[in-house]
Amino acid sequence: MTTRVEIINDFLAINVIPGKTIQEIVEASGSALPFGCRDGECGTCVVSIESGMEFLSDVTDKEVTVMKMLNETSPKARLSCQMKIVKPNGVIRLKY
Ligand code: FES
Repeated sequence: MTTRVEIINDFLAINVIPGKTIQEIVEASGSALPFGCRDGECGTCVVSIESGMEFLSDVTDKEVTVMKMLNETSPKARLSCQMKIVKPNGVIRLKY
């Protein structure tokens, strides 16, 4: 009952149980994906979800605010520190 998270830049793939944040997974994986505030305010952790958005939590108000601040309009853009895996048996592919 896991979902596979693939971090394309780092050639990493991790199987995780739903409920984890992408930040927790990234930090445990050895990925070089950077973080700043870890609270959805700085935009440092923005990533592109190449597939598997349906396995992630809904976009938060903080994400909407930061994406406006960054002039980021891609529907694939998310903040790693804000989104959680919410469903098992999927594959999420992201890059930064
Ligand atoms: S680390 Fe600052 S928004 Fe995610």
